[in-house]
Order: sequence, then C-alpha cells, then structure tokens
Amino acid sequence: MLLSPINFIGAAAILSSLASAAPTAAPVYPPKTTSQNFQLIANVTANDLTPSIQNYVVASYHTGAGEAYAVLMPDLSSGRIFYVNGTASDVRFGNSNILSDEGLNQATPPFPAGLAIDSANAVSINAGAGQPGIVLTQFPDPITELAVGGGDGFYACESQLVYGNAVQLFSKGSGETPDGCADVTLLPQCSEDSGAAHPYGQTVNCYADVAGIDWSVYSSD
Ligand SMILES: *[C@@H]1O[C@H](CO)[C@@H](O)[C@H](O)[C@H]1NC(C)=O
Ligand SMILES: *[C@@H]1O[C@H](CO)[C@@H](O)[C@H](O)[C@H]1NC(C)=O
Repeated sequence: MLLSPINFIGAAAILSSLASAAPTAAPVYPPKTTSQNFQLIANVTANDLTPSIQNYVVASYHTGAGEAYAVLMPDLSSGRIFYVNGTASDVRFGNSNILSDEGLNQATPPFPAGLAIDSANAVSINAGAGQPGIVLTQFPDPITELAVGGGDGFYACESQLVYGNAVQLFSKGSGETPDGCADVTLLPQCSEDSGAAHPYGQTVNCYADVAGIDWSVYSSD
C-alpha cells in the first residue's frame, strides 16, 4: 500500500515517538562511601604529562614556614590528608574550607593549613584557614570532586620550584589550560584519621579506591 503524504507524515511521527520512548540505560556513577578524612587523587581528563600523572595524589611542596604549593606526587603515602571544615550550614551554602593538619608528630600541637588559590592561580596549602568556597561538590552532582566556587577545573604542569621540579597544581579560573599542562579532576579518596581533633570536621562522600575506578563502565558527568 502506498502512503498518502498525510499518512506518511503520521507514520514518521509515530516512528520518531517510538524512538524517543525506547528505553535508554540510566547513567551509572562510581560508588561512594563516606569519611571525615580524604586524600585528593588526580584523574587526567586531557593532555596527560610524560610520565603519566594519572592517580597521582595532592601533596605539599614547602616553600617557607607554613607555606606550601600543592603538587602531585606518584606515591599515595606522600599525599596530604584533608578534611572539610565548617558547620552544616557552611557546607550547604558552599562556605566551608578544606583543611589539613600541619606539624603532626612534632613537639608543637598540630595546627591547620588550608587550601587556597593565589593570584597566579597556583593551589597552595598554607598555615591558616585557607579559602572558603573551595569545596567538594555535593548532591545532586553524582560525582564528588574538588571545586572552586562556580566549579572551574584544575590543571597540572611540570614547574621549576625553589628546590627542584615538581608537578604543580593550578586552578583553571576562567582561563584556559596552558600548553604542556594536563587537565585534571581531583577526586577524594577516603582516608584514615590523622589523629588530630577536628571540631568542625564534616563527614563527606569519597571513593574507596580512585585508581580502581574503571571509567569505561561509569559516567563522569
Ligand atoms: C576520569 O578520567 C577518565 C579518563 O580520562 C575519564 O573518562 C573520566 O570521565 C574521568 N572522570 C572524572 C570524574 O573526571
Ligand atoms: C572551621 O569552621 C568553623 C565553623 O565555621 C569556624 O568557626 C572555624 O574558624 C574554622 N576553622 C578554621 C581553621 O578555618
């Protein structure tokens, strides 16, 4: 039977509505657990460095007393342990800060060092409160990752620092990733307690083993 033009349009409309009603697999995201303490693991999303910095951990590169740049290191045991500091309301409104304990195992009591972004967009870990608004993303974001304010990403580059080369971490801000640098997301990996008291430490979502996530079976956005 030949379709008249009217019927033909009707048939096409039925076919396209069938197509849009076809079941599509819901995205599946990597499973999370919770902890008060976490390390930050780099997941390279573009332009990996050589050697690869996939699954490197955020560590500190001290440049002076209580001052350090955030760098990426291959060995998990050299990574810093962080926690989200703030009241529940600080967390809800994105005003919490991310801290780490400085001076552990020393004669002085531990004191906080906070994540901050300097004027050159370098991520730093300096003694003090750090910068409110550097957060771990929360529900409804299905992925938990480090974010600054509006969610600008991060990049890492081989840099010459005072005591030698290191893979230095930067906030992208509103700019572009420079040539020769890798785009990274920073995913929290649950970690053990540092032993220091954290009166405003918050329980957060984190991944048990970031390096073990098989991204070919999971969505990331
Ligand atoms: C992690 O990296 C893999 C490989 O580049 C990518 O497919 C995946 O989307 C990334 N996930 C996140 C949350 O960045
Ligand atoms: C931790 O968060 C609490 C609650 O907002 C705040 O009073 C305190 O100053 C913060 N501590 C540091 C070191 O930033």
